[in-house]
This record gives sequence, structure tokens and C-alpha cells, in this order.
Amino acid sequence: MAALTDVQKINILGRESIHCGFHLVPYIVRTVLTELPASTYVLITDSNIAKFYFPAFEEEFDSTLSGLTNGSHARPRFLSHIIPPGETSKSREGKAVVEDFLLLNKCTRDTVILALGGGVVGDLVGFVAATFMRGVRFCQIPTSLLAMVDSSVGGKTAIDTPHGKNLIGAFWQPEFIFIDAALLETLPSREFSNGMAEVVKTAAIWNDSEFNSLESRSAEIFAAIQTPSTDYAGRSRKTRSLAQELLLAVIIGSISVKAHIVTIDPTEKGLRNLVNFGHSIGHAIEAILTPTILHGECVSIGMILEAELSRQMGILSQVSVGRLARCLKAYNLPVSLVDPRIADLPSAKLITVERLLDIMRVDKKNQGNDKKIVLLSRIGATYEQKASVVPDSLISKTLSESVTVIPGIPSFNPVKMTTPGSKSISNRALVLAALGTGTCRLTNLLHSDDTQVMMAALSELKGAKFEWEDGGETLVVHGGNGSLSVPPQGKELYLGNAGTAARFLTTVCTLVQKSPADDAEMTVITGNARMKQRPIGPLVTALRTNGSVIDYLESDGCLPLSIRPNGLKGGSVQLAASVSSQYVSSVLLCAPYANEPITLELIGGQVISQPYIDMTIAMMKSFGIEVSRRTEKDTGKLLDIYDIPKGSYQNPSNYSIESDASSATYPLAIAAITGTLCTIQNIGSLSLQGDAKFAREVLERMGCEVTQTATETTVQGPPIGELKAVEVIDMEVMTDAFLTATALAAVANGKTRIVGIANQRVKECNRIRAMIDELAKFGVSTNELDDGLEIMGKPVEEHKKGVSVHCYDDHRVAMAFSVLASLIPGTILEEKRCVEKTWPNWWDDLQNKIGLEVKGVELSTPSVSFSSNAVPFKSVVLIGMRGSGKTFIGDLAAAALHWKFIDADDHFETVHKIGVRQFVHENGWPAFREAETKLLQDLLNQQGHEHVISLGGGIVETPSARDLLKDWVSEGGVVVHIARNIDEVIEYLGLEGSRPAYGEPVNDVFQRRAPWFAECSSHRFINHVEAFVEGKIVIDPTDTKRGIREEVARFFNHITGVAANLAQNLKPGHNSYFLSLTYPDVLLALPRLEELSAGVDALEVRVDLLRSKEDIEPQGKHIPSEAYVADQIAALRRVTSLPLIFTVRTVSEGGAFPDHARKEVSSLLNLAISLGVEYLDVEMQLPEQTIRQLIARKGSTQIIASWHDWSGRLKWGSPEAQAMYDIAARNGDIVKMVFTASTMLDNFDCRAFALKTNNRPGAKPFIAINMGAVGQLSRILNTTFSPVSHPLQPSRAAPGQISFAQVQKALHLIGELPATKFYLFGNPISHSLSPTLHNTAFETLGLPHTYELLETAEVGEDIKNTIASPDFGGASVTIPHKMNIIPSLDQLTPAAKAMGAVNTIIPKNDSSTRLLVGDNTDWLGIRGSIAARIAVGQIHAALVIGAGGTSRAAIYALKDLGAKVIYVWNRTHDRAEELRVSNPDVNIQVINELGNWPNATVSPNVIVSTIPASETSLEDKPGYLFYPASLFSYLDGPAIVLDLAYKPVETPLLKLAKMTASNWDTAQGVEVLLQQGYAQFEQWTSRKCPQGPVSRKVWEVYYNRA
Ligand SMILES: NC(=O)c1ccc[n+]([C@@H]2O[C@H](COP(=O)([O-])OP(=O)(O)OC[C@H]3O[C@@H](n4cnc5c(N)ncnc54)[C@H](O)[C@@H]3O)[C@@H](O)[C@H]2O)c1
Ligand SMILES: [Zn+2]
Repeated sequence: MAALTDVQKINILGRESIHCGFHLVPYIVRTVLTELPASTYVLITDSNIAKFYFPAFEEEFDSTLSGLTNGSHARPRFLSHIIPPGETSKSREGKAVVEDFLLLNKCTRDTVILALGGGVVGDLVGFVAATFMRGVRFCQIPTSLLAMVDSSVGGKTAIDTPHGKNLIGAFWQPEFIFIDAALLETLPSREFSNGMAEVVKTAAIWNDSEFNSLESRSAEIFAAIQTPSTDYAGRSRKTRSLAQELLLAVIIGSISVKAHIVTIDPTEKGLRNLVNFGHSIGHAIEAILTPTILHGECVSIGMILEAELSRQMGILSQVSVGRLARCLKAYNLPVSLVDPRIADLPSAKLITVERLLDIMRVDKKNQGNDKKIVLLSRIGATYEQKASVVPDSLISKTLSESVTVIPGIPSFNPVKMTTPGSKSISNRALVLAALGTGTCRLTNLLHSDDTQVMMAALSELKGAKFEWEDGGETLVVHGGNGSLSVPPQGKELYLGNAGTAARFLTTVCTLVQKSPADDAEMTVITGNARMKQRPIGPLVTALRTNGSVIDYLESDGCLPLSIRPNGLKGGSVQLAASVSSQYVSSVLLCAPYANEPITLELIGGQVISQPYIDMTIAMMKSFGIEVSRRTEKDTGKLLDIYDIPKGSYQNPSNYSIESDASSATYPLAIAAITGTLCTIQNIGSLSLQGDAKFAREVLERMGCEVTQTATETTVQGPPIGELKAVEVIDMEVMTDAFLTATALAAVANGKTRIVGIANQRVKECNRIRAMIDELAKFGVSTNELDDGLEIMGKPVEEHKKGVSVHCYDDHRVAMAFSVLASLIPGTILEEKRCVEKTWPNWWDDLQNKIGLEVKGVELSTPSVSFSSNAVPFKSVVLIGMRGSGKTFIGDLAAAALHWKFIDADDHFETVHKIGVRQFVHENGWPAFREAETKLLQDLLNQQGHEHVISLGGGIVETPSARDLLKDWVSEGGVVVHIARNIDEVIEYLGLEGSRPAYGEPVNDVFQRRAPWFAECSSHRFINHVEAFVEGKIVIDPTDTKRGIREEVARFFNHITGVAANLAQNLKPGHNSYFLSLTYPDVLLALPRLEELSAGVDALEVRVDLLRSKEDIEPQGKHIPSEAYVADQIAALRRVTSLPLIFTVRTVSEGGAFPDHARKEVSSLLNLAISLGVEYLDVEMQLPEQTIRQLIARKGSTQIIASWHDWSGRLKWGSPEAQAMYDIAARNGDIVKMVFTASTMLDNFDCRAFALKTNNRPGAKPFIAINMGAVGQLSRILNTTFSPVSHPLQPSRAAPGQISFAQVQKALHLIGELPATKFYLFGNPISHSLSPTLHNTAFETLGLPHTYELLETAEVGEDIKNTIASPDFGGASVTIPHKMNIIPSLDQLTPAAKAMGAVNTIIPKNDSSTRLLVGDNTDWLGIRGSIAARIAVGQIHAALVIGAGGTSRAAIYALKDLGAKVIYVWNRTHDRAEELRVSNPDVNIQVINELGNWPNATVSPNVIVSTIPASETSLEDKPGYLFYPASLFSYLDGPAIVLDLAYKPVETPLLKLAKMTASNWDTAQGVEVLLQQGYAQFEQWTSRKCPQGPVSRKVWEVYYNRA
């Protein structure tokens, strides 16, 4: 059986040791056993491969060995060893495992090892063989394509170390290399492509005919591995299919080249370097992207970049670069870093020019500091027979994604050049020359998918022969005179997605005539899936009607087609030509070869694209065939009927393809703008291309001198700065050139109006918009028109310099702006690659043919700048519908910011001495709008700082007012849109009539203005006046603890940067936490929000989890509406001032947001900034553009720059992690990295990494955690914004998330949070509620601390020892020690100093020393209780009863609240007087009789009693203080009485208040105690006290005792 095996042998290093064929297992075993006698044969493979092939080898060895009758000798052994698949096996550890196996099995020097597998197995086993017993024999049986064509050939063996790949190894030649191509049938297709990269590489450097076949036969080559060969088909030549032959030929071709090179240069001294083509850059990319992206994939990109380098140096033609790229693409390989397979990876962000150059620095090929790269000179040859030295500057230019043009006079002036050939003309010329007789040299051909596919198909049909000359500049066509043959049976013509080729070739195939030698009956043309949907029906119908036999093989009207080789009959042909002119051209081009002359009649209505039909006819004429078009006899009107004579094309010896006229506009425009001369050869007055009119109709009118011959166009620009604006240019016939004209108009003197280009809105991008937006960056104003735009030209000097132009991935935008860039310094074109569509080497030509230097630029992230306090803050402008609450909110905002408020309506009245209503009545709306806009301008100029300006609702109706507002925002100002539910507005307006009525439904006005409000504002404040509209949001009003007042203060302080609402615990030495809210609707959380958020510093809103009731899908991917998100944020603001973290997590990051909805993510993040959200979680995987845009407008909002890795691949401490950190630190205010832990050790690595980076000077706050249950420890150890959950929440935000209390407990257990002791010093204190208060708080938060009583008569040893103890956490101080304690302390806070009393001791640990700080929070308790009822500044007069320590706190609080006068009553007048004297800055009046006020008009609306209630009475009896009802004579508004006594529950004072006046509110001492206790707790722990649970418990204990 084995005898039937056919193998081909290849010589390497003088021996025919490479044996190639199909199904070789028996052959291999037999050859090894006979040629390599040994005591032991060891087969080593990986488990993937073992699954498929191990049994066959084992069986073959067993049966062959057992058949051996071995007389005296022991029978050889067959052993096998299977290793895990993957690169990690190729390591020191992996090598040891294999060696141990061999040693354990007592393998000796005469062992033969068989390496069955890919490059991993081959490299590892080869290296083991090289050193085991000082070297044993081995054979390579490569199973992957890469291993077959590359790693198994050449004797290089190696393993990896953590320092790099392949760093330890040996040259060790295998005895045999068995290439069994049938093994490839199980190879995953991506791995196959991976190997094809090396195959293409080898052909590219060495063998152009090999390359031709790879280029044209990719589909067949793929098919060869995708069709399983049954019954060992292919083992013998006879049973081998065409596809198998082809596959083997490809492999052998590639191996032969490598074997040849290796033989000449076995140890890699020079020539062998050539096989490194694509590898210098490819390896650098691989170093960053491995293992996600495979070697061959990186090399594929590397080849293109290195080829571009060669092109840039003027060595390689664009045609060759294009062919290489198309060929690699055909094998599913990526050809650029912007390929989504790469650009979408998180690690793709790590690819920077600098990093790549850095990695390339250690390339083995380098010569000292000089990098060496293999330069291709054409397909199949290299520039030198070795790698060439290339300067870094050129490499970095090739690698960078953006470019800048250095302005100046083109150094090649006068420039004479051709621009890339026209695509349409290239396609036609190719068909004409192929069908013609004689040899034709085509120059300036645009080599594209279409031409490539067409050439391959025409060769296959034996219709013509093609050769490249001049390194690809010239295509030599040996015409076949219309003789074509059927391709062999089973061979289909594969056209990919090349549309023009498919149309033209359909008719070409009907020309085929069968000859007796042909085995096939039909010509089949097919394409890829997309091609199979594109229409071809009208053409097929026309040809069928004419007698051709054409069948649709799949769906009607589309490819694939089977066409019978009958020749084209001719005569009359009717064709529907309203869909595509290409059908017409197809028939015209082939018509001369029909059996009879053809009369082609176009039917079916309006003929589309007549110019292209004319173009075909004109070109046919150049090849000797004249088509005549019929006219109507009487009128001479042209008819759609054409007569084509029989004949054959006479090939001109040279045919130069006309340049693409749109491309030609750029060099011509550069001449125009730089005042120089440029001649474009190949395009002149005879051109049929519409854009050829650009020179005459645009440039000449702008002041250029234009000379045009039939085939050349020359433009001389006026001196710089003298281009003239043109009033109107209609560019309908040359729409593509409008971008070029617009760029010129930007520097012309005057206004240019360009019309007739409406279709340009639906090109690669909305080009009109794109030009407007990008020109604005230069400071050029424009107006958009229905069918065009107006450009207000501006002198060159006034253009903004250093503009970065976004190109919208549109070649025309990029090239048009490079015209402007040749004059305006520092202009950056952001995406240089977008020119690839029509002029891939535009940047090279700009430098090498025009003579303007082009430099690579790497876009740097704008530095994170922050408004400094030195400059005054810019005024805030409020806009919004009338009735939305602008005045109300503006007033509050101004008060909170301590700025001035201006109401524009009032201001209007002041300025115009007449009300708005009256003005409109007298002068009409237009006059009012004008006056209003003028006023706005003046306000912004004169009150531009530290004012809150509220504007009229209609201000946005005026475009110039909108511009003013937009400018204000773009200059860093704040414009807030006050948004209020429109129904509420309508209701509110019903009550108010001082301003002019709308005269139209309010709703319509609202709809019209809504987009304007949005576009003019930087922020949005949601004013839920009826906070919770019935039926929409249902909240218990008691949950809405915060008033609108507090939210206005938070919002405006934050967005202006006056006092950003940021978490305080982010500073070093503190731990901070955020709670992830995982509710679909945060309203569900509001009632318990306080409890949920206990201890945390911020709340995270997981926006991707939000789902409104209208969102039907309860689970899965989801994008919540912006309106819903805004409402949710507003709802949260009603109950909490904790900073919010806004997070949109995508599915692959563990969230619910669809992965590719990047636009939506970006709009949501922008919404968050508008809403004044404090923190934004921004994934670093988002497009660079988005990130930069967010940074640019974030204001006080901080960016958490985050990375998430779910794969578990990324390791802390790896260079990749470091690079990720660096990127995030550059972009964010806070860095967040979330990896996945696989073992506990990962948590320590995480901590170590964080400690290391945090120690760097100026380090940003850093969130470093691991996901997964194993990762929990990292959440405990993390110090910045640790995400926590809460047991009350429905679900956790991420696996492994634990609660705040759990974290504290865990920290305590591991010794990171020692328990400390807190005390109450005083006497008597046994009834104190303070232990209840603080111990409840500690317990709720999971803190290990305790609070106890220390009752002492004096401040003695007990207290002194206690406060000196290391576990002292802090103390409350009460009567009688509040003053006596002071000498034992180190420092007093201003409040304690002012009051001369201390109620709180806080130990502050300062590196080595510890300071005891005395504070007094009593006043905060009093202040809080009053402020909850009466607004700041509304205290007309206050009364303080008593003059002890506590009364000092009361006075301090009242002063802070702005009480205008404070009456003090005390039993002993002198002590009251003392109080007055010691508070000189407060208006204190001592009174002698309660209820009798010195100034009768001002009775107090606040009363604070600080004396024991047991000494008071409502009856006038001796020994008691009598309270008269006249205490409560204030009746005009809110008033409050506080009794600081705890006993009884209802003191006489409070009882009296309740009985006397309904406007008086009462507050018990416990309330004040609680308030000051909260403050105390916060001082000690830096955590908010969990007020709910604490107050519940304290009140409970209090009532139980009473
Ligand atoms: N020595 C050299 O000159 C040289 C040259 C190039 C590359 N290399 C080395 O080669 C290695 C890469 O080789 P590779 O791409 O073959 O990787 P590999 O060995 O890891 O194989 C790729 C994957 O395909 C599987 N596989 C291989 N053949 C299969 C088959 N026939 N059917 C099903 N699955 C199959 C493997 O199990 C593996 O999962 C790298 O370590 C690289 O450094 C060495
Ligand atoms: Zn390689």
C-alpha cells in the first residue's frame, strides 16, 4: 500500500531530506524505521494534534514493529509523549518536562525523536534533541502550514523565556522533514492564513510567478484544505485533485526558496535575512499583540508597512504595494493596524510609534544603532541581497497614523506629473488591449481589485498574456485577438467583489468558443457572497435574447453564471440601461467580436451615466473600432441606438491611461494656493471626465492662469494671498472637486458660494458638513445651503495655525485639506490612510513629486488642564423655555456661588426704559430679537465674569444669538439649559402674564426650540419643580430630604469649578469606596439609599443596567434612552449629594451595553458631563477621538480612565500592564485597571503593582482590582474607590463584589485596620446616649472600633493615660471637662478656639508624631437643627437662654447662620455680659426679662435654651425660671425653638411653644445631640455617619429610658 505513495523530495544543505506528499503516515514510519535505525522512537505532539493523528501513527508503528523478526536484537521501542498545545509549552519548564520523560524512559543516544506538530512542537522538540545526550537525531513532521513552510525548514530551534521569544536555542538540523499536506485539512482556517503570510512573503521576495499564482488563485487554495480528501486521495499522483496539486505546488514552491536560501547561508549571515521581510516591524507589533494576534497576521501588516517604507523611499511602486496588500487580504490576513480585528483590541492602544521603534531597537539584524529592514524593489525581488539600513525618521513616518505638511513653495516647482490613472479608463483599456491584436504597453494603470481579477480571468480564458515592466509601472498586454477558451473542468472564474470586472467579463465569456481539446462544457463565473447579491440581470437578459446560453447557478439575476461557449451571435441587441452604464459598455467592448455586426438599442427609460458610454466609445476608437450613434432623421436628435462594426482592435504599442481628473485637482490647487506652476500630464481638454473642467471653471475664475492642450493641463497660481473669491460656482458636473474648491475659497479674498453639490452629503461622509466643521477650526466661517455652501475667505495670516483636521475616513477630505496645509503652518491631517481609496501614495507623491515635506505625527492626548483659580470665573448663562424656572434657579445659583444675578428681562427694561412686552408691542418681534441679541453681546462683554445671567426663552430663535452662546461655550464658558417638564411649564405660564404671549401653541414652540437649547448649552439642569409628577415617578416625599436649594448649590459649584463636588477620601492615606447601583430604575433604591450608601464616598450609576418600564426586554443587551438616564440622575440628586460615577459597561466588559454601540456610549458620556455628574468611567478601548473630545469638555468632572480584561490573560507587572497604566494616567484623573484573577497570588501582584505606581511622584489615584471570587482580596486591599455592593441590593455589579462593611471587617482581620477605642469624658454621664450613637455607627459600617464611658471627676491621670494610649481613637468631652481638657491637647480648631470649649478630641497621626486636636461640634448640632427649618439669612433675631459653655456653641452657630441680633438671657447678668464682650463681632444684646424685647419690632424667630429643664416652669413659682407665652410672639413665618435638655421628653419650653403658636417648630435635645454626633463621627473616621440606623437606635433607647 505504501508503495503507492508519491513523494516529491527537496534538497536542503546537500541532502534530499524534505519529502512532500499527501497521507504520508505509512511512508513516514517505513522511512524512519529503515533509514534511521534506533533502539527507541519517541513521537512527541500536542493534544490538539494527537486527537486527530496519534492513533494512525501508533497503529502504523505497532504493526510495523511487531512484524519485525529481529533475531538477536531487541525490538525497537515506540514511545509517545503529548504536551499541552500553545506557546507556553515552548519554555524552560516545557523543555524540562520532555527531557524528564526521555530520562525516565531510559532513552539513550541512539534515540530518534519525531516532532509531530506546529512550530511550537517543532521548536521545542528540536531544541531538546539538540542537547539531549549532547544531541540525538530527530525528524520534523510539521502539521501547521507555518511549520511546513517556515519553522521546520532551516534547523532553527528555540524556546521562550520571560525575557522574550526564541532567546535560547540551537541550530540543529532534522534528519527528515515530512510534509504531509493532508494534515492541513484539520488545521483551523485562521492558522492556515497565518501560514499563508509566510508563503506570500517568500514569493514576494523571491519569485514573481509564484506570487502571480498566489494572487490569482486564493479561492482554489483555500478550497484545497476545506474539502476533505477521502480514501487517502492524493497519496498517489493519480488520485490527486487539481486543488491538491495546487496546494502542494504552493507549499513546495515556498519551501524550495527557503531551502535554497538556507543552503547558501545556513547560519543567517546575510542572504537569509531576506526571509525577514515584514518581520522587523511585524515582530514589534507581535511583541505587543501576542498571543491574541498570530505571528503571520503581524507579519502581514509588517510586510505592508515595510513595503510602504520602500515606496516612500522611491524604491517600490504603488502597484506592487497594492498587489501585495490585495494578495494578503485574499488570504484573510489583516494589512493594517486599523483593521477592526486589531483596532478593537484593548492592547491596540499600546501600539505607539515610539514603542514600536523601541522594540525594533533590539532586532538581531540591526547594525549598531541603525535599523535594518528588507526593502522590496518589486514583486519577487529585494532592493539589496540583504536587509538595508533605514533611518528611524522614515520608519516613524511610515508608522504614524497622522501627518503634517510643512508649508512652503513646492521644491519641484514647476511641477510636472501624472496622477493615478482613472479607474474607469483602466478597466476599459485592459479589456480592449486583451481582446486586441498585437502588444500594448499600458502605462499609468490604476491597479485595483477589478483590474487584478480581470487579468486573472483573461489569463485563465487564454485570452491574453500579461507581464509587468518597470517594476510594475507598465503592464505589457499581449492581445489574444478575441480568441478565448473554456477553462478546464471544475475551474471557476472567481471575481471576488469586483463589480466592473463581473459586468465586463459576462459578455467577454460569451465570446468563448469551444474547441475539441476542451474538456469543460461551460464557463462559470462566480464571486464572493456580496457579489452574489449584486445585479447582473438586464445584461444577461439582453445576451440571452441574442442567443447566448447563460444560466443562473444560484439566485436569478446574480452571479454565479454558467455560460455556454458558443460565441456571440450579434445582430440586434436590446438592453435596459437605466440601472448601470456598465452593461452598455460591456456589450460595446465585446461587440466587434460577434459573428454579425451588432446594433445595440438601449431601452427602459432614462439612460444612466451617458458620459461613461461616450468614454467607452471614444476608447474603442483609439483601438481602431468606430461606433456610430444614430440620430433622428428630421431633428438630428441623438438616439439611444448604436451600430458597432465587426472587426478586431488594433493595439497601439503604447497606451497611457488618462489620469483621474478628481485626483488632479489637488496638485493643481497646490499650485494655485502657493503661487507656483503645475502641469498634469495625461489630462486635458479632450478628457471626458467631468472633473477635468476644474482648472478652467474654478481655478481660472479664482485668478489662476490656465493653459490646456488636448492632453495636458497647466496651472500657474497668482502670488500667495491673491486668490479671488467667486460669487457662485455651480459644480454639478464635478461634484467630487468641490472639496478642493472649498479649501481654496477659505484663503480667497471674499465670499465664495458653491452650489449643485447636494449629493455630497451622502458620500463617504456628509462632506458639506465635514468641510464646514473642519474649516471652522481654522477660524473660517461658512454657511450651509440646501445644495452647497458659502465660504467667507480669510487672509492666510488670520487662519488658526496648528489645526488638527479630522478626515472622516474620506480620501477627498484628507487631500483637500492637504492643499490648505501646504500654506497654513502646523496643520495635521489625522488619518493619513484614508487616501488609500484613490491615491494610496498621495503623501509620498506630495513629497517626492511636488516637493512639500510631509512628516509623520503622533496625535498626543491633550494635557489634562484645569481652570486655575487665579483668573476670575466666567459668568454662567441660563437658557430655557419661559416658565422653566430660570429666574428662580438663577437666584439660588448666584447665592450659592456668591455671584451676582442678572435677569435679562429686567436688564432689558433698565436699558431700554420700557418693558419687554411694551417693546414688542411698539416695535414688533424682529426688532425685539435684534435688541435682545445686542443686549446679550453686551452682557457677555461687560458682565462676563462671576455673574449668573438668565436669558429670555426666545433668545435661541435668533441665529446670531445662538452663535454668541456657542462661542461662549467654545471659549470655556458655561451655558446651562434649565429643562422642565413642558406640561408643568404650560400650567405655570397660565398663571403669569407679564411677558408677551407666544401666539402659537406652547408645545410647538417647545419642539422647535428644543434642539437649539441642546446645541447652545454646555450643561443641563433638570428642574423637577413638581419633583415627582403623578403617575411617573413615585417617591415618598420624606425621602426627598434634599431641597432644590442644595442641589442648585451642588450643581453650580461643581460645573463652574468654584467648589467641585469631589470625594474627599481620594487623597493618599485614605480609603475610598463607591457603591454600584444595579437597579434598572434607581427610584427603587431611593427609599433606602441612605442605608445602601453607608460608608461610601460615591455612587456608581451603572447606566447600561438602567431600564425604563417602556423597555420591554428585561435582560440582555440594551441602550437606555437619554431622557430616561437624565431623569434617573435627577431623581438621585433629590436625595443625595454624594458624587456620582457614571459608567456604561459593554457586554464584553461584563455589562449590558452592546459592544459596538460606540456612538451611543459617547453621547451618554457627554450627557453625563452636561448633567454635572462628578466622575465618568471612560473605557480606554473607546476610540481615541471620543476620549479626547470628553477630556476637552469635562470641566470639573473627573475621568476615570479604565481598562477591563476578562480574559485573564493580562498580568500585573507585565510591560503591557505598565503601558496600560501609562495610557490611562495620561488620559484620566483617576486610573482604573480591572484584571481577572486566576490565583490568590494575582491579588498580591495587583497590590504590589499599585504600591509601586502609587509611589511615583504625582501619581494619580489608582483603582487596581481583580475580578472573580479569587479576586476578592484585591478589592479589600485596593485603596481608591473600591467598588462595593450592599446586601439590600438586588444584584451585584460585578462578580466578587462585596459590601462596605465586609471590606472593613476583612481589613481588620488581616491587620490593615486596627481596632481603636473611643471615649466619653465627663461627669455624670451614665445616661449618655453617645455610646449608643457611635457604637451603632461602627457596627453598621463594619468598623472594629468601640466607644465607652470614662467617668472622672476631673481631667486627671485616667484621661491623660487614655489619650496617650496607641489605641486611642478619639473622644467626646462633656460637662465639666469641656474647658479643662484644653491644656492636654496640642491644637484647637478655629471653632473650638472661638468658643473656648472642646467637645471632640481627634488624634491626627502625622508620619511620626501624633497630634491631639480639639474641636467643638456642638455648634454644628445646633446649626443643623436650625438650618433644617429656616433658610440662611432669614433669622431676624434669636434668643439664647443660659450663658454656659453650650450657649457659646449656640452663639457661634447663630452667627454662622447670619442672625441679625442675638438676645442672651442668663440668671446671672454678669456671665451674659461676659459672653457679649467675648463676641465683639456679633450683635449680642443681654436682656433681663424673657419675652420683653429691647426693640419691640424684632421678636426672635429662633430660641435656644441651654439650661436644665428641671429648673424651668410654665408657672411663675420661686426657684424656677418662668417662661411667658410672649416668648413666641413672632408669627410672620417659620420659627424654631430648641431645648438642649434631654429630660423630660417634653420640656416646659417646648410644651409652651406647641400650645402657643402654630408657626413654631420644636426640636429636642436629642436631635441636637445626634447632629453633633454625626459631625464628630465624620471627624474621627472620615466617613459619613449612617444617620438612619443611628438615629432610629438612639431615639429607641431614649424613649425606652424615659
Ligand atoms: N524555528 C523557526 O525557524 C521558526 C520560524 C517561524 C516560527 N517559529 C515558531 O513557530 C511557532 C508557531 O508555530 P505554529 O503557528 O505552527 O503554532 P502552533 O504549533 O502553536 O500551532 C498552532 C495551533 O494549531 C494547532 N494545530 C497545528 N497543526 C494542526 C493540525 N494539522 N490540525 C489541527 N490543529 C493543528 C496547534 O495545536 C495549535 O493550537 C512559534 O513558537 C514561532 O516562534 C519558528
Ligand atoms: Zn515568520
